[in-house]
Amino acid sequence: MAPGAAAAAVAMAVVAVLLAAEGGLAAAPRKPVDVPFQKNYVPTWAEDHIHYVDGGREVQLYLDRSSGTGFQTRGSYLFGHFSMHIKLVAGDSAGTVTAFYLSSQNSEHDEIDFEFLGNRTGQPYILQTNVFTGGKGDREQRIYLWFDPTKEYHSYAVLWNLYMVAFFVDDVPIRVFKNSSADLGVRYPFSQPMKLYSSLWNADDWATRGGREKTDWANAPFVASYRGFHVDGCEASAEARYCATQGARWWDQPEFRDLDAAQYRKLADVRRRYTIYNYCADKDRYAAAPPECARDRDV
Ligand SMILES: *[C@@H]1O[C@H](CO)[C@@H](O)[C@H](O)[C@H]1NC(C)=O
Ligand SMILES: *[C@@H]1O[C@H](CO)[C@@H](O)[C@H](O)[C@H]1NC(C)=O
Repeated sequence: MAPGAAAAAVAMAVVAVLLAAEGGLAAAPRKPVDVPFQKNYVPTWAEDHIHYVDGGREVQLYLDRSSGTGFQTRGSYLFGHFSMHIKLVAGDSAGTVTAFYLSSQNSEHDEIDFEFLGNRTGQPYILQTNVFTGGKGDREQRIYLWFDPTKEYHSYAVLWNLYMVAFFVDDVPIRVFKNSSADLGVRYPFSQPMKLYSSLWNADDWATRGGREKTDWANAPFVASYRGFHVDGCEASAEARYCATQGARWWDQPEFRDLDAAQYRKLADVRRRYTIYNYCADKDRYAAAPPECARDRDV
């Protein structure tokens, strides 16, 4: 390359980095495409507690004294972008938990979790997130949401690539778990395909105010509603160690390898204003914050 061309290339690279850092849009995941439930999902258990509306464009999970229920993707995926529009159980939802998560199906499993812990009427839901790698979790974070999640549908999404797992609520990043495997030795979900799951069940032994508030069955059935069902992942057999198109898909391209500056500002804002619990700051559990915490900007 001639020196002039090299300088021009460097200048363009600098502009690209600046755009990626400040552009915002450059790093937002692709817009999800709404599809009917049946395209990507099937019931997992208690099929009779799942109600279909509008040909499966909307699905309602019912929890009553006899059962909760759940559904899962048809396929397993290694990396991709997954989102769901959810309207959580309204009114008195204390004791109930609604979950949306990815999980591999083996014993040393990887898992990426959204769990919504219900509450008494008018009291705030808690959103708990967690990341398991190689069977080890213990990375809980809990936040309040900045809206009432029972009034409207809101979107909850995961972007998972070779470089990071990012959690989004309505496009606001609420958590990032970077691939710190090479330099910090933290296991990363990398070679175990995952399915997506969702479920609604009774967890009044722990969910609300640490289990002190019990489910009031007089208010059953409890109903959580879903739309969207977006799955854009690399489908792989459950035993596969890598994805056929690994590294070549849109979610692995440079602009999706990290959050940009605007997204990190939003993440810091969520941390500051809505955090209830963060394992990285739990001195009783971890005398020193786990190694990934600084990298993930959780401390
Ligand atoms: C991401 O994780 C994989 C599997 O642990 C590892 O081989 C790779 O080097 C990691 N990349 C980084 C940037 O740490
Ligand atoms: C339920 O409401 C109480 C009182 O406002 C609050 O302390 C708690 O964090 C809320 N959420 C859950 C899931 O317990």
